[in-house]
Amino acid sequence: MYYLRVVSYIVFLYLYIDSICLTKNDLIGIFVLQQKSKLLKQQNIMKTLDYLHLDASAVSKVSTALQQLLADYQVFYTNLRNFHWNIKGHGFFVLHSKFEEMYDDTAEKVDELAERILMLGGTPESKFSEYLKVSKIKEADVTSCGNDALKNILDTYGYLIGEERKVLALAGEVDDEATVALMSDYLKEQEKLVWMLVAYSTCDCKEK
Ligand SMILES: [Fe+2]
Repeated sequence: MYYLRVVSYIVFLYLYIDSICLTKNDLIGIFVLQQKSKLLKQQNIMKTLDYLHLDASAVSKVSTALQQLLADYQVFYTNLRNFHWNIKGHGFFVLHSKFEEMYDDTAEKVDELAERILMLGGTPESKFSEYLKVSKIKEADVTSCGNDALKNILDTYGYLIGEERKVLALAGEVDDEATVALMSDYLKEQEKLVWMLVAYSTCDCKEK
């Protein structure tokens, strides 16, 4: 009986040690794989940026600034949907379709910003919960009033134009001409849109 106990104990001890060894091996294997994957990712980024003739550490600041814009545009997109759905009154037909045009354009910009971040070696944020933490644009309440929606949209464009100018300047400092051109396109388009929205919102007709 005593010998049986001793044998059982030895077998148990062997299996225990064996299982620890396996765990250690597994951990080492996982660690090595992780390092290899990191290295491959790093090499991939370096390779893309080498082809683009851009410096990884210099453009990382541009990538971070674009992440901010990405979060802002995602929240703005949702606000425009809200205005498109809930608008009421005499301006309905004009504003309902104008807001649709705006959110379609905003969706395109979201994609362009995310893809530019990838080209610069970053990973675009994709969680809406994170966008809400980062975005300087706040979620809009439901409104059926055209003037309130227009005021919110003009304020948003005012903020975005300011941010895009900053990103343009930052990209220019590190010779990232493609981001400069992207921001320049946004500014050209949005400055005209702001003029039109202000003109639409302003009525100087004299009441009879
Ligand atoms: Fe619709």
